[in-house]
Amino acid sequence: MAVRDESISVKQYRAPIAVALTGASGVQYGLRLVECLIAAEHEVYVMVSKAAHRVIAVETEIELPAQPDRLARDLTKRFGAGEGQVRCFGREDWMAPVASGSGAWQALVVCPCSTGTLSAVVCGASNNLIERAADVALKERRKLILVPRETPLSAVHLDNMLKLTNMGGVILPAAPGFYHRPDSVQAMIDFVVARILNQLGIAQTLMPRWGD
Ligand SMILES: Cc1cc2nc3c(=O)[nH]c(=O)nc-3n(C[C@H](O)[C@H](O)[C@H](O)COP(=O)(O)O)c2cc1C
Repeated sequence: MAVRDESISVKQYRAPIAVALTGASGVQYGLRLVECLIAAEHEVYVMVSKAAHRVIAVETEIELPAQPDRLARDLTKRFGAGEGQVRCFGREDWMAPVASGSGAWQALVVCPCSTGTLSAVVCGASNNLIERAADVALKERRKLILVPRETPLSAVHLDNMLKLTNMGGVILPAAPGFYHRPDSVQAMIDFVVARILNQLGIAQTLMPRWGD
């Protein structure tokens, strides 16, 4: 008969949310989202495209490891996550939970989302794990949020955004408002991240809801 060791307890986190950082400007939004999901005690799956690593190097002082296990350790330490709360997956890690509808994850947020990844998602390319995860989210009717950052927008971008919306996805542009009078870049980042958390139905204190 198996003897249960009561001294060993594995912490249970809330349902996994997948976050993909792609090569649009504004990786700060995606990293802040990961931080908030960790604080909200969700398990977090993270994917970072090759172009996103390039943009991170250009836009920030942050040095993120490219290798998924090292990236998971880095994010765990950086954001004070619990053991096993953050898992990272590589470009062709087809054994990752997000590669299949049978994986027990709840939602995918592509933040920021390049116009290239937007286009690949709309046509169902599935050529890398981020595109495949978006494809799975659509077929399983799971929440899919794309946070594009581009300006101006071409007819191709606008057409793809409309198509994605009609497929059930959410286009949530990285377009911070000014009506809460942000006094810092952080406040502008938090404006967008608060909207994403609201979409996911996750309680947040980054920004009050209108009327509160
Ligand atoms: C510094 C830098 C900033 C970029 N900013 C944007 C951007 O704001 N929006 C966008 O759609 N693409 C942007 N790009 C281009 C994308 O990174 C490029 O199209 C890439 O192929 C996207 O690949 P991914 O979707 O696999 O991440 C930027 C590239 C660099 C190097």
